[in-house]
Amino acid sequence: MACETCTCVDEITEEQKEKIREIIGSYKGKPGVLIQVLHECQQVVGYLPREVQAMIAEGLDIPLSEVYSVVTFYALFSLKPKGRNVISVCKGTACYVKGADDIMEKLEDELGIKGEDTTDDRRFSVEVVRCMGACGLGPVVRVNEDIYARVKPDRIMEVLDKYE
Ligand code: FES
Repeated sequence: MACETCTCVDEITEEQKEKIREIIGSYKGKPGVLIQVLHECQQVVGYLPREVQAMIAEGLDIPLSEVYSVVTFYALFSLKPKGRNVISVCKGTACYVKGADDIMEKLEDELGIKGEDTTDDRRFSVEVVRCMGACGLGPVVRVNEDIYARVKPDRIMEVLDKYE
C-alpha cells in the first residue's frame, strides 16, 4: 500500500516490526528520545515510512504530526527507501571549488531528482558527503564502494551506466 506522506510503498517485514517495537520499548517513558528512536528505527528499515512513524508515535505517546515534523526537518531522516545504488557526491571545500555543484546539477537533470533524493525506480539515491579524504583528486564521487576521481559532469552518466 502506498503511504500518505510520499510515493513509496511500505514494505516492512514482521522481523523489522519486532525490532522497532524493541527499540521503542527500550526508550518508552524517557524524555527527549525521539531523534534517537527515529535514528535507530531508520537503521532497521533503511528509511522512515508512515507505518514506522505511526508505531513510534503510538509507542512514545506523542502525536504523529510531531514525529513527521522531526523526520522532515532533519536531512538525516528519509521518507523514501534508498536506491539500489548510492551516489555520494563530495561537497567538501576542495571538491566544491573544483565543481561538485556542476556534478549535482547534472545528476538532478539526468535523474529527475532534486538534491539528496532517490529516483522513482529506486535505481539511484544521491547523497552529499563532506570530504572523502581524496581532496587532491576532486571532484570526487563515490558510487556504492567505487571511487571516481576528477569527475567531469558530462561524463557522469557514462559512469552510472555500469550500475543496474
Ligand atoms: S573535499 Fe572532496 S575529498 Fe576532500
